[in-house]
Amino acid sequence: MRFSRLGYEVTAVDNYFRRDACRELDAEMLYPVLSLEERARIWHEKTGKEIKVVIGDLSDPEVMRSLFQPDAIDYKWCVDESYTGLPDVIIHYAEQPSAPYSLMDYKHADITLSNNLRVTNNLLFAVRDFCRGVHIVKLGTMGEYGTPNIDIEEGWIEIEHKGRRDTFLYPRQASSIYHTSKIMDTDLMWFGVRMWGLRVTDLMQGPVYGLETEEIRIDPRFKTIFNYDEIFGTLINRFITQAVVGHPLTVYGAGGQTRGYLDIRDTLQCVLAAVENPPEPGELTIYNQIMETFSVNEIAEIVHRVGCQRGHPVSIQQLENPRCEAESHYYNPTYQGLVELGVKPHYLTDESVHSLFELVEGYRDNIREEIIFRGIKW
Ligand SMILES: NC(=O)c1ccc[n+]([C@@H]2O[C@H](COP(=O)([O-])OP(=O)(O)OC[C@H]3O[C@@H](n4cnc5c(N)ncnc54)[C@H](O)[C@@H]3O)[C@@H](O)[C@H]2O)c1
Repeated sequence: MRFSRLGYEVTAVDNYFRRDACRELDAEMLYPVLSLEERARIWHEKTGKEIKVVIGDLSDPEVMRSLFQPDAIDYKWCVDESYTGLPDVIIHYAEQPSAPYSLMDYKHADITLSNNLRVTNNLLFAVRDFCRGVHIVKLGTMGEYGTPNIDIEEGWIEIEHKGRRDTFLYPRQASSIYHTSKIMDTDLMWFGVRMWGLRVTDLMQGPVYGLETEEIRIDPRFKTIFNYDEIFGTLINRFITQAVVGHPLTVYGAGGQTRGYLDIRDTLQCVLAAVENPPEPGELTIYNQIMETFSVNEIAEIVHRVGCQRGHPVSIQQLENPRCEAESHYYNPTYQGLVELGVKPHYLTDESVHSLFELVEGYRDNIREEIIFRGIKW
């Protein structure tokens, strides 16, 4: 919707993997979200702009490749003679994005690896075969780096070894099968860049919170999916939902786990900045897509403070950590690149937490306490 508003011709491809998984695992969303076709129809009604929707499984190579056949997508509004039927930019979001999902059992680990790696590999080969000049913007994750005891650079590190120097991908050591699949995605992309001169931007994103985008002011039915359960919910969204129903905030272990976070509005700014600043052919550009860092305890304190101000009886519970992770560690990532491209961060302030509370409070009756925590073990 953001790109469409800015005049880009947009095609969205999805197979409803996420919604099907939520249904399968009884991990209901905070509110229902309309189908992509229905959202595109309302978008056209409200803005006059058309977003093409294709429902298909991108882990199937033939589905992926069919999108690259000239005129596979009927852009009837396009009259420009230079139009080739091929995209200029591909934004790759299509993955199973949950760490707990990937560690539920061998079956969900298998789904995660095969879905994520096949989508990435199919994309790589389709771009190699049909449009090498296209700019791929891929969503990676800060979780690829893990929590090393040295500063985290933006993607690359120069190493001196026995008197010689070279630059390498920053060492990665993930702590879930999902995050490991993202490392492998990066490796696949880097391979395509080296072998075939592809141009790729990899965005190492931290956990996203919030739902208030400019587009939901056009129509509230454009809200994105919001999960608050243990499998698909991200930390800040989950804590606020827990506070609203009086469930103790679920801090795992000592709560010193520190990560970089960003507001959903900044996700949109970052992806746009990446699209507008493409790398040269044969270049892999990596940005760390976070705006600030917090420990789990710090987030719990903010949600506790704001929740109490709003009259919720908020308490914090330290649960035995179901994950295998460092609960207190050094964490100092660099994340200047996107800000230097002009992204203006929205920080997590008491005011922004109040507005998130207000949104979640509006759906209080939909919140099911029994799906908040089930203790999926690593
Ligand atoms: N949300 C976060 O906090 C966060 C943080 C870091 C990285 N990311 C990354 O950002 C991207 C988007 O994440 P999100 O949180 O919006 O998750 P999401 O589940 O809402 O988005 C992924 C979309 O891809 C679709 N999809 C998955 N497999 C597919 C397939 N085989 N074919 C077609 N469509 C498929 C899903 O149905 C879903 O709509 C993911 O790559 C994720 O790893 C997200």
